[in-house]
Amino acid sequence: MSDLGHPLPLPTASDEALARLQRRRSAPAQALTFPGPSPDQLEVMLATAARTPDHGKLFPWRFVIIEGPAKSALVHALKPLAEDQSEPVKAATVLAKLANPPVTVMVVSSPVPDHKVPVWEQQLSAGAVCMNLEHAADAMGFSASWITDWYAYDPATRPLLGLKDGEQVAGFIHIGTLAEGPAERPRPSMAAIVSRQL
Ligand SMILES: Cc1cc2nc3c(=O)[nH]c(=O)nc-3n(C[C@H](O)[C@H](O)[C@H](O)COP(=O)(O)O)c2cc1C
Repeated sequence: MSDLGHPLPLPTASDEALARLQRRRSAPAQALTFPGPSPDQLEVMLATAARTPDHGKLFPWRFVIIEGPAKSALVHALKPLAEDQSEPVKAATVLAKLANPPVTVMVVSSPVPDHKVPVWEQQLSAGAVCMNLEHAADAMGFSASWITDWYAYDPATRPLLGLKDGEQVAGFIHIGTLAEGPAERPRPSMAAIVSRQL
């Protein structure tokens, strides 16, 4: 039965949920290995990620699952294009971030043009989908990493990625398992970024 139009439960405090949000950290993508999410788990992850605010209910984003032989073929096709980048050796090396993780989800920002909802807001919503996907992966016991890298921006890769006019890669969300937890990284000084409207 659809919940559409029915009131949802109000939030209750969850120390566990808060602790997860406070502990989550991106994985080094190239270190992500099997197991990755099963097709059923991925379906749950994506449905959770799609439960993201977007102004106007435009759903201005879409997912492309990249795994298995299709992932190997994509990496193979990207390799020669690495040579055209400003730092070819580095560009080829970072392909490991795409090649190694068992599952990658390309989150595509697909804004509706000339709409009263500004494109900026539609793109923000795509970013929020990426973050939600990272949280869903974490909640299901997987590590994840949000990366763009050169192949998100080089126009020559667009046909390989199946991007349509006006679309942009919001992120490649690489999902898998880590052998050990990542080291914590610097976090902002809250005093520096929090103020109160006077
Ligand atoms: C939009 C976006 C694009 C990113 N692209 C890259 C990238 O191309 N290469 C990279 O090494 N890190 C990239 N990162 C940063 C990684 O995701 C980084 O691991 C992350 O910011 C660490 O934050 P966390 O520990 O809170 O998860 C990107 C982050 C965002 C939000």
